[in-house]
Amino acid sequence: MSKPASTPTPENTQLKDIVAHAKEYGFVFQSSEIYDGLAAVYDYGPNGVELKNNLKRLWWEAMTQLHGNVVGIDAAIFMAPQTWEASGHVAGFNDPLIDNLDSKKRYRADVLLEEKAAEYENAGDPARGAALTAEMGRLLTANDLAGVRQLILDEKIKCPVSGTGNWTEVRQFNLMFSTQGSAVDSDAPPVYLRPETAQGIFVNFLNVQKSARMKIPFGIAQIGKAFRNEIVARQFIFRMREFEQMEMQFFVRPGTEGEWYDTWKAARRRFHEALGLPPEKLRFHDHDKLAHYAKAAVDIEYEFPFGFKEMEGIHSRGDFDLTQHQNLSRKKQQYFDNDIDEATGKPYGNYVPYVVETSVGADRLFLATLCQAFQEETITEGEGETQTTKQRTLLKLHPAVAPIKAAIFPLVRKDGMPEKAQQIFDDLRFDFRLVIEDKDAIGKRYTRQDLIGTPFCIVVDGQTLEDDTVTVRHRDTREQTRMPISALRAYIGEAVSFKTVFAKL
Ligand code: GAP
Repeated sequence: MSKPASTPTPENTQLKDIVAHAKEYGFVFQSSEIYDGLAAVYDYGPNGVELKNNLKRLWWEAMTQLHGNVVGIDAAIFMAPQTWEASGHVAGFNDPLIDNLDSKKRYRADVLLEEKAAEYENAGDPARGAALTAEMGRLLTANDLAGVRQLILDEKIKCPVSGTGNWTEVRQFNLMFSTQGSAVDSDAPPVYLRPETAQGIFVNFLNVQKSARMKIPFGIAQIGKAFRNEIVARQFIFRMREFEQMEMQFFVRPGTEGEWYDTWKAARRRFHEALGLPPEKLRFHDHDKLAHYAKAAVDIEYEFPFGFKEMEGIHSRGDFDLTQHQNLSRKKQQYFDNDIDEATGKPYGNYVPYVVETSVGADRLFLATLCQAFQEETITEGEGETQTTKQRTLLKLHPAVAPIKAAIFPLVRKDGMPEKAQQIFDDLRFDFRLVIEDKDAIGKRYTRQDLIGTPFCIVVDGQTLEDDTVTVRHRDTREQTRMPISALRAYIGEAVSFKTVFAKL
């Protein structure tokens, strides 16, 4: 019998600790928790929203500010229903589902098979795992659902809850949420909540190209909510029903998409590494089953506590989307390219551009960042007989994305120290997100800031009142540096600047 999903392992114990930490320190809460929550929907708390906004801003600037040929938009969530006919989502945005007749639990058939393949890989037989995912890809591409079921039976995959292999047929289930589009016409077609932000970019391709006078190759970037009726709601914010995507469609001349695919694949991996995700915890994974729109697709996977899983997708979408919209809307989606084709000596002329897409979930990037930052370490204090060891938990976040950049501590709540701390706060608040903490012993205050990933703690003490210097305590090393108050802006500014990330891209 395969291992039940709820069996504690070091990996899911670590995820449990991260989930508990995220709640306790105001990063992520279950949505409408007082009503026992809504499955796979989450809210971000005071520290979570700061971290998430920093990640989004970093991505946005890395796309738009660092590339002269990438501009942004913010399209609506609701779109004309035909959008989703043209994009293929009405017909093809399905998950293959299977039910276990004994436990009455529902699963994604492809996830059951992927987990089996991972089992082979973990047991040292990657070839068998690869053969299984390839066979699954072949069957799903051919929409051979009976074949998928047979593969589950052949692999003797059991329900983790009932332990039996008593499976139903495999059925396709559309993932789009819909709502009533018209208050007066009950026959009006449903309005969908967009399942990807990309279509808001495709339908605006010519608006943007003309208004911003863009020349191919160019990109359009967008950050926004997307919605999918996910059946397998597990692993915290990894798979949500309401989530946020950061997508960029890059429009290129047909025939050049291969180079651009490679370029963006490498660029996006560099982004994650520059943010502090270690190279050995990142890998590329080519898709076994291509989405209906894709000619080539690769995932950037991060090693979460529950294994290597997709964080970002890079897709070569060809002219699929623009051609589909052109056909259904009867509005030309062409670009006139007046660059000279060396082969013919004439301009390339009119064509429907090809698209290379980069698509990363803001919530998955958040989860990877949090998992990577969450560390428990043993620290030794004092020397000889007085030496003690203790455990500390900290978030080693990149300072550029930390929710709070510095905490200011008056050593005691008297002798003018609180007033001095307030002066420093007022002086730096236009530059950084700061807090003043004056409760409890200094050690406890450091601990509280370590737990939320604050890179610097500034201590105002007796000497500060005499010579306007403070100590700056560093989160990761716990070292302290004495410096003039007048040096703080430049010192903190350099460490938290996005430039430290951008320089590595
Ligand atoms: N426009 C292409 C597209 O949507 P995708 O691979 O389905 O491609 C892109 O999604 C990214 O969106 C994923 O790599 C993931 O980071 C994020 N994502 C997708 N479904 C998600 C979900 N249910 N919860 C959280 N993030 C999700």
